[in-house]
Amino acid sequence: MSDNQVVYNGETITRGPLAYEGKAKQVFETNDPDILWLHYMDQVTALNGKVKEDFAGKGHFNNIISDLIFAYLSHQGIAHHWLTEISETDQLVRRVEIIPLEVVTRNYSAGHFVSRFDVKPMMQLSPRVQELYYKSDPLDDPFMNNSQALSLKIASQDELDQVFAMADQVNNALVKLFDEVKITLVDFKLEFGRLKDGQIILADEISPDTMRLVDQATGKSLDKDVFRKKEGDLRVGYEDVLNRLREHVK
Ligand SMILES: Nc1ncnc2c1ncn2[C@@H]1O[C@H](COP(=O)(O)OP(=O)(O)O)[C@@H](O)[C@H]1O
Ligand SMILES: [Mg+2]
Repeated sequence: MSDNQVVYNGETITRGPLAYEGKAKQVFETNDPDILWLHYMDQVTALNGKVKEDFAGKGHFNNIISDLIFAYLSHQGIAHHWLTEISETDQLVRRVEIIPLEVVTRNYSAGHFVSRFDVKPMMQLSPRVQELYYKSDPLDDPFMNNSQALSLKIASQDELDQVFAMADQVNNALVKLFDEVKITLVDFKLEFGRLKDGQIILADEISPDTMRLVDQATGKSLDKDVFRKKEGDLRVGYEDVLNRLREHVK
C-alpha cells in the first residue's frame, strides 16, 4: 500500500487530484465521490493570509487534535464529517457542500470582540455570544447577521437554527472537555456543510488554529494567538494541548 492509499471500512481509498488548497489544508479528491482526503499543512497564517509562516510539525498537531476532538464529539452525538485519521498529517472526511459561514462562539471576550466593543479581554460572556462571518478571503470574512445570510440565500432559517443549536452543543461539550484538562475555551470557529440529502453536519477542523485556549494555571495562550501576537513558538502550546487531550480522551 503506497502513501496515497489507505483502507477504510474494507474499501481502498486512493488520493486523487488536489481539489482546493486553503490557508491551512489541502483538500484532495479520492476514488470515492463521497470521501475527501485532507492534508494538514505546516503553514500558519494570520490576518486572513496576509502574514504567513511555516512551522514544521504544526500540521501534525492540528490533525491529531482535530481527530481527538471529532472522536470525542461523536460520543456526544454530534454529526460531523470526520471519518478517520490516516497519518500524522492526513485524515479522511465526508464530502459536504460547505456553507460559506464561519460560526463563532465566544465564552470570554478576546480578539475582535474586544476592539469592536471596547471591553476588557477575558471578560466572561453570559450568555455566550454567537456570531456569523461570511467566509470569503477577498472580502476578509466580513461580519454577517442572520437576515443577511437569509436574504443572500446562504442558508435557510431552518439551517441557521440547526447550525446555532449544533454550535451550542459543541460549545457545551468542549467547554467541559477543556475544563477537565485545565484549559479555558475562550472562543472558537466552526464550519458546517450539507450532505447530498441536505443534512447539516459539522465540517472543517477544530484545532488551536480555530480556537482560543488559555492555560488555567498560567493564563498563557495555547493557540494561534501566540503567532498573531508574536509571542514565540506556537508549537509549544499546540503540543501541550495535544498531550493533555491525549491523556484525557481515551
Ligand atoms: N468535509 C468537507 N467537504 C468539503 N470541503 C471541506 C470539508 N471540510 C473542510 N472543507 C473546506 O476545505 C477548505 C480547506 O481548509 P483551509 O485550508 O482551512 O481553508 P481556508 O483557507 O478557507 O481556511 C476550506 O475551504 C473548508 O471549508
Ligand atoms: Mg481554515
